[in-house]
Amino acid sequence: MRILSGLQPTGRLHIGNYFGMMEPALRLQDEGEAYYFIADYHALTSLHNAAELRDNVRNLAIDFLACGLDPNKAVFFKQSDVPEHTELAWILSTVTPMPMLENCHSYKDKTARGMVPNAGLFTYPVLMTADILIYDSDLVPVGKDQKQHLEVARDIATKMNLTFGEGTLKIPTARIREETAVVPGLDGQKMSKSYGNTIALFEDEKALKKKIMGIPTDSTPVESPKPTENSAILNLYRLFASDAEYNAMVGDFQKGGIGYGDFKKRLLEKTWSFFAAAREKREKIVADKNYVDDVLRAGAAKARAVARQTMDRVRAAVGL
Ligand code: ADP
Ligand code: TRP
Repeated sequence: MRILSGLQPTGRLHIGNYFGMMEPALRLQDEGEAYYFIADYHALTSLHNAAELRDNVRNLAIDFLACGLDPNKAVFFKQSDVPEHTELAWILSTVTPMPMLENCHSYKDKTARGMVPNAGLFTYPVLMTADILIYDSDLVPVGKDQKQHLEVARDIATKMNLTFGEGTLKIPTARIREETAVVPGLDGQKMSKSYGNTIALFEDEKALKKKIMGIPTDSTPVESPKPTENSAILNLYRLFASDAEYNAMVGDFQKGGIGYGDFKKRLLEKTWSFFAAAREKREKIVADKNYVDDVLRAGAAKARAVARQTMDRVRAAVGL
């Protein structure tokens, strides 16, 4: 089984990325041939600053490796080291109906939020489709917000096979983990870089404390029971705590007598200790000057060999 997923280097990774995409992807490393990549071509649709892009790529690589991506198990690479992705994207775009792209939520959401709609942003799902299809991927672990893009990928693959012959491209399946489909941010909305409500994976202790202690709460007095519905504190705590610890906090909310400050402290401790091992590993990776470049170079060579084979097949099928 081939597993593939990607992350955009548009900022520091946060716990929404972790529970939505990274943790499931890390678990899948043991279940098949995993291909994980840094989607730097995609990042160019929203980031036009070379130094910042380079910095984001590096940090993403370090963070993902620190969290347990094992380059001996998974092929880890940078998208732009395999330029065949863009070649396939062009071919795919010639069978992609415009209305399919016009219907994509992520494009509509981003433009609604004031982002300048460049052509790359519009055709982004086609490049994403190429990313997936070029490795004959079976399974794509992603967060819920990518579900529609996976439907686009399946539709385009089907269209290619109808147009150029069965077996031209493999039809992939999305893997979306329902329990953590949407990780809430500090304000209770979906955690997202674009909303400024994130907790980064490797937040320093002071910043983490400031963020968690600053989670907005209602004015229920200390002695009264607290509402458990839509509580950002409880929803975040659930990600890090055991079931017993989570149920204990729910009980304490309902009993009353404990203030929000105490609940936030419990959340802070859990969040900090959850990433303790990864923080240590991160320091080692940073200290080893060539490690990240070596990993990405080796990954790119492996990925490119596979991508070239698919391109040969597709070029032949379409008559190039
Ligand atoms: P952001 O919304 O911060 O820009 P991305 O769109 O770069 O995040 O998401 C990268 C991956 O992380 C995707 O697979 C996405 O589904 C997942 N993801 C992002 N935010 C969340 C969240 N709040 N809950 C669950 N998964 C998320
Ligand atoms: N679009 C994804 C995101 O914003 C990143 C991505 C690009 C991706 N290509 C992909 C994810 C291929 C899975 C498969 O998070």
